[in-house]
Parts: sequence; C-alpha cells; structure tokens
Amino acid sequence: MSAPLIDIAVTRSGDDLWLQLTLAPELPVAGSLHFCLARYLDPDSLSGATLLRQVGSYKELKLARLHDIAFCCPRTPMERYSDLPQGFYLSHPDAVLQPLPVGRRDLGLTAPPPPPPLPQVEPESGLVPQPARLHRLDGEFRLPEQAHVCAPALIEDLLAHFNQLTGLSLQQDHDALLRLELAPLPQEAYRLTISPSGIRIEAGGRPGWRHGLMSLAQWVLQHGESLPCIAVEDAPRFGFRGVFLDCARHFHPVATIKRLLEQMALYKFNRFHWHLTDDEGWRLEIKAFPALTEVGAWRGHGLPITPQLSGGPAPYGGNYSQNEVRDIVAHAAALGITVIPEIDIPGHCHAAIKALPELLVEPADASRYRSVQYFEDNVLNPALPGTYTFLERVLDEVCALFPGPLIHLGGDEVPQGVWQESPACQALMRQHGYRDPKELQGHLLRHCQRYLAGKGKQMIGWEEIRHGNKVSQEAVVCAWTRLEAGLEAAAAGHPVVMAPAQHLYLDLAWSRDPDEPGLYWAGTLDLAQVYRCEPAPADFPAKEQILGVLSPLWGELITSRERLDYMLFPRLLATAEVAWSQPEHKSWAGFCARLPGQLQILGKRGVRYRPPKQ
Ligand code: ACM
Repeated sequence: MSAPLIDIAVTRSGDDLWLQLTLAPELPVAGSLHFCLARYLDPDSLSGATLLRQVGSYKELKLARLHDIAFCCPRTPMERYSDLPQGFYLSHPDAVLQPLPVGRRDLGLTAPPPPPPLPQVEPESGLVPQPARLHRLDGEFRLPEQAHVCAPALIEDLLAHFNQLTGLSLQQDHDALLRLELAPLPQEAYRLTISPSGIRIEAGGRPGWRHGLMSLAQWVLQHGESLPCIAVEDAPRFGFRGVFLDCARHFHPVATIKRLLEQMALYKFNRFHWHLTDDEGWRLEIKAFPALTEVGAWRGHGLPITPQLSGGPAPYGGNYSQNEVRDIVAHAAALGITVIPEIDIPGHCHAAIKALPELLVEPADASRYRSVQYFEDNVLNPALPGTYTFLERVLDEVCALFPGPLIHLGGDEVPQGVWQESPACQALMRQHGYRDPKELQGHLLRHCQRYLAGKGKQMIGWEEIRHGNKVSQEAVVCAWTRLEAGLEAAAAGHPVVMAPAQHLYLDLAWSRDPDEPGLYWAGTLDLAQVYRCEPAPADFPAKEQILGVLSPLWGELITSRERLDYMLFPRLLATAEVAWSQPEHKSWAGFCARLPGQLQILGKRGVRYRPPKQ
C-alpha cells in the first residue's frame, strides 16, 4: 500500500454535510483533483478549489495551490464508510495522472448499539426454501457416489448440475437407485421420497424434477452419503421468483453470472432480471450501434463517460457480446431460469446518450434537470425520431437474444424538469393535447409496449411506467419504492412483481454499523426483515395479480465478487422462502434453525456470505 496522500473528514451542520479534504504537503496542488462521491456537491460552498465538472458521482475540481479543500453536500446523510469519496487522482496540464491513496477517514460517527441476536435455536438439517410438507421417515438410505438414475426422459443436464453441486457422479441408466417418475402434479410441484430402498422424485416434468433434485442436493450436502429418510411434498407459492443483478454500475464477468444462476437454482429461483444498461455503463453488444459498447461500456479519465462510483483514472468497464449473452441465456435455461433483460429507459440513459449523441440529443433542448444520481443529461427525448430508431433497433436485437416473454424497459426515476424546454417535446405535447410532461414518458413507453407486443413480447417495468397513464394493463409492474405501489398497480389490473426496497433490496446495508457497506435510503435490511416480507397480504382482494417477488442487487457498491456474495448471502435464502413457501409454512425460528446447515453448503461452495451476527 502506498503512503496516504489525502485525508477526509466529515462534519455535519443540521441536515448538511461538510467534507474536508487535506492533500499531503508534498503534492503539487496545481491542475485538477478528480474523485467520485455519490452526493451533490454545492459549487458555491467550495473553498480551496473551484468546480470544473460534476457528472453523476464524478467531480473535477480545479486546484488553487491550496492543500485544504472544503465543500458542502446539502441535505444528505453520510452514515457509513462506503459513502465516502473514492478514486481520487490528480491530473496536471501535462496530463500526468496520479492516484491518491486515502489515509485518515473520519466520519465523526459513534457506533450504534449492536442489533438483537438471532433467536437461540438448536440447528437442524432441513431445506431452504421450506417445503410444504417434510416428514422424517424411519431409517437411512446410502447413496453411492456412482448411483444410477432412471427417468422417463433425458435428464443429463439436470444430473450434471446435481453432480456439480454434490460432487457425486450420478448417471442416467436402468436398474436405478434414484427414480424420477411422472405424476399428475402442477408445473413446478414435486414429491421426494427417500426410503431405505431408494429415492423417488415424482413430478409433472422437468421443472418439478429439477426442484426435487435440488432438495435432494441440499439433503446430500448436509448429510453426506447416509441420508436420513424423508418424504417431501412441495410446490411454490409464486410462479415468479426472481433475482436482479445490476451489471451496469459495476461490470460482472460471465463466470460470476453463471455462478449466481447456479446458486439461484439451488434455492429454486426461476427468473434472472439482468440490468444491462444505466447511466454509468451500457453492457449489451448491439450490432446496429457498436458505439453503445465501444463508447458506452467504458468510463475513465478523458473518455466520453467520466469515471464513476469507485472511480479512478484507468478505463473501467466491459460488455457482454451477443455470443456471451446466448451462452448465459442457455445456461440459465438449463437451470430452469428465464432471463429478463432490462434496457432502462427513458431515464438512466447517460451512457447511451454519450455513445449516440447524433441520434439522441436535441441541440435546441434547454431543459435543466438533475437526476437522483446527479446526471444532467440522462433522459431520452420522446419527441426525437432518433430515439425511436435507436429503441426499435435495440429492441429488435434484444428480442432476438432473449427468448423469454418479458422485456424490462425500466421507466424509473425520470427527473423533474426534463423536456420542459425542448421545442420538439413542446410540439409533441401540443399535437396530442398532453398537459403533463409525464405523458411524454407514457407516450414513449406505450410505443415500446406496442412494438414489443408486435414481436410477441410483454413489457415489464418499474412502477413509474404507470406515469402518464398510457401503458396498458398487460404491462407487468415491478413495485420498488414500497409494497403499496404494487398493491395499487395490482388493484388497477396490472400483473405485479413485488420488490419493495424495505424488504428485498439486497444492496441496502445489513445494519447501522458504519463499517457495513451498502445504501440505506430505504433503511437497513437484516435477515429478519427480508424474511418478514409479505408480498400478497391475505386480505388483499387482487392477490392473483401478484406474480411473485424479486430481490434486487443494485451495483453502485458491488465492486467485487466478494462484495456481491456478502450482500446477497444469506439474505437471498430469506427471499427464496418469501417467494416459495406458503405463509403458514414459514417460521423465523425454523429458518434460523435450518440456516447453519445452509451456511455450511454455501461455505463449501466458496460463497463468502456474511456470517449472521444478529
Ligand atoms: C430503482 O431502484 N430505481 C428501481
């Protein structure tokens, strides 16, 4: 580690934050200081430097030969070390870049009291998610490493995943100890019987067999070759059991995604919501517009997209080629998981706009706005022909790449003030008699919904796709700001996926400890809070509109696979139970008793989960 060259101290004044940056005396304080901080820096508050640029989290300050710099971030909290500015570097007129290692970091916080401990319960082996029924039977069954499996269909791929998980080498053959049988059961239901003479998994077909094999894999991983006999009857509560990964804010390699898909299958998730585009990066190769990834997938010093988030001068990024996408989609399908791609529009489009300004920018647009993440140029213009050319060509390729029925179009967090000084938008509003700029968002999304429908696809989006009241009821709504937004959308006739941040956003910090990384705009999120999520309250009349649940992992702070594991596990096991198990079969104490066995499984698989502390 190089010697620290910058110290950071934070103080509070009412709701405002003041940050002091102290540069080491040996630094030549000329040129620019660059860093990333996911807060708005008030330019008028700066002392010791002047603001040259503020784009999203990125700030460039012109130094004034002073070593002490201070500025205010108005009306915002800073409660943990992962909030602090990162990626400091200096640039000089002769373009020499110098990363600045950070030394003292003082948040001026006292540690909060520790959270209450997890219930003290005797650990017991079991399954996650909790099945509808699990009875212990007398006796044990010894499953040899090389056992044979018979099934009324080819199931080599199901066995391959089972073998990979358990380290066994089961093979499809006659004369079997493990029999997969057809039974008239609903789509994903299964019965698993382990008796002293053999193992039987009954289901209506592959989805049920797969779940039965995953339950068996969990049992094998907890008991080794001598399996206590059990009878399991099981079926999911919800048909949509999703995990969301943001690959735009930080890029995750194909291997990390495949690994996550395998973990998802073990816990019976069946939807992977893949967030592929955002302000900070466009990750999907689009043949019609190579610039989207050549320009939009990279950020760094001197690039059209500035450093962001974890920052630093070096080019940072990456994209998924169409071949890699097909590979991931096929891997997911083999695990019973449908991939739902997200192209986030009309907001969250900074990277796309920087890549294709000639199509996506209206030069005469004088609108002033600032997005929640401090971008001032991140919204598509619903009145530009180029916007439609762009979207249709992108959706053509997206629909060809992703065979599932749902395409996610974002729709979230379009900032106030956008489009208001756009001559093209004003003309479009007059032409259609629109009164509220939100109708322009509806106008654009309705066009896309119809375009997708023409290709046999259904639109899904965040709850704001209802803004402007133009998108039809067939659109699936993902509720994220609160559960009630989902209930309202369901009552209005939309199919709904529940992803309320207060229960299911796994990028939220685990606790109030300032050392815990994570966001906290919707509070912090411990295991019990995830477990408590009730996505379809018993007395809610439109319950059948609720398709299921989704646990998002947004990527602002997910800079490594270790961080990804830490934020996801074991909270994702609680989500699995929210998604799969009927409320009457859930028990917090029971979940806590089954947790140690599952943590052992995760540990053996190299998952760097957060050891439960509360
Ligand atoms: C969201 O978290 N902006 C959907």
